[in-house]
Amino acid sequence: MSAAGSNAPAAPLPTDPGVLKACTFDGARATLKHKDLVSARHLTGWPVMGGAIVTMDGPAHRARRKLESALFGPKNLPRYELEVLQPAIDTALRQAAEQHREEDGVVRLDLVALGRRMMISISAAIVGLDIANDDEARFRRLDDCLTALIGGVTIEWSHDDHTEVLARAVEWKRVFGDEFVAPAMERRRAVIARAGSWADEQPDLISTLLSDAEQQWSYDDVLTESVQYLVASSGTSVTSTVHTINHLIEWFEEHPDDRARVGDADFLRQAAMESLRLHPGPHILMRRAVADVETAEFTAHEGDFVGADLRQANRDPEVFGENPERFDLEREIRKDAQRDGFTFGGGRHVCIGRPLALGTYGRRGEEDVDGTIVRALRTLFAAGVRPSQTATPRRANGVDDRFEFFPVVLADL
Ligand code: HEM
Repeated sequence: MSAAGSNAPAAPLPTDPGVLKACTFDGARATLKHKDLVSARHLTGWPVMGGAIVTMDGPAHRARRKLESALFGPKNLPRYELEVLQPAIDTALRQAAEQHREEDGVVRLDLVALGRRMMISISAAIVGLDIANDDEARFRRLDDCLTALIGGVTIEWSHDDHTEVLARAVEWKRVFGDEFVAPAMERRRAVIARAGSWADEQPDLISTLLSDAEQQWSYDDVLTESVQYLVASSGTSVTSTVHTINHLIEWFEEHPDDRARVGDADFLRQAAMESLRLHPGPHILMRRAVADVETAEFTAHEGDFVGADLRQANRDPEVFGENPERFDLEREIRKDAQRDGFTFGGGRHVCIGRPLALGTYGRRGEEDVDGTIVRALRTLFAAGVRPSQTATPRRANGVDDRFEFFPVVLADL
């Protein structure tokens, strides 16, 4: 059992054997959709995330979801991808070429750090942190905040000392608030007071919350929601990009003809989705029963904690076919499933940022975007990304399935 933060009910860790689990595809879907199974996310990291949208349920969650969904509408998605991410990619690659070219003329660097520099710019734009694309010092400071905050948000999966990880995350949440969120709120409040609304400026999370007609947002609430968006958008997208590259490099060894498809958005999206299926991040989504609940896999009594085990559900052979643990771009999938399984969740908490990460691919017609992960993959393959022969990748210390360090060569940069 973990020591939960203040105001949070004491909670088991997702990996505790006592937690009831849905491990099949259909069981995970039933769990995520069930009206009497409510969010029990981040109870151990409550001082960092308690009160963020993913920890809420009921009418308050519905209202907040409606408010924030506007950020992912057809006007904003192309803006994030083309006006924010693309310049950030260009800057990151230019700097990589300047700073990481070694004596033999080859650029060698850590793909995790490069990916973070690209994705953090989009997170900053979505939250509304007012950082100029070339302000490296501010991005580095934000990246320091992100590192500690990811520790707090993924604490349930860490093998490090939980008290220390949480204390560090809480301290950096304060820094993130003082140095980024508070000035952004001040600027937006001033514009809203002067012009009557933020409507003439680009919308972002903070301006959206401060313009909410239904409720007054306190500083603490804006700060926690900003932490949710910063972490949810940056860490996940970087992790997926790195895993996909790792799988594709191996795939090309067995399927050399597919190498020619690295400029094709649909091919890269399929690869990203197959990789996302295999690596669903913090893979047990915790829920708490608010009434007795019976499913095909478990009977939960009111108050019990249950988890949708995405790693198992995403490898259900009934849905994903033979050898479900293999990265296989040719696998046939049951018609009612997506290739990425439940990696973006399901039901009322399903990821709000999925179209940003994977694109809209035809669903929105003219406003079509490739998706930030697809765009990052295409750019990295165009730069000739290859595994390093001289350094070894390092994984995070814990159950959390991500690389902390992934050395590569950018052979064509
Ligand atoms: C590869 C990328 C991503 C993955 C794998 C991912 C995964 C997830 C999952 C599994 C959930 C559901 C949590 C639950 O049910 O307990 C979720 C929710 C959420 N995600 Fe994502 N996410 C990604 C990208 C993003 C991006 C880019 C954003 C924002 C820009 C974002 C914002 C959110 C938010 C705000 C929620 C909470 C929604 C709610 O509770 O109603 N995510 N995400």
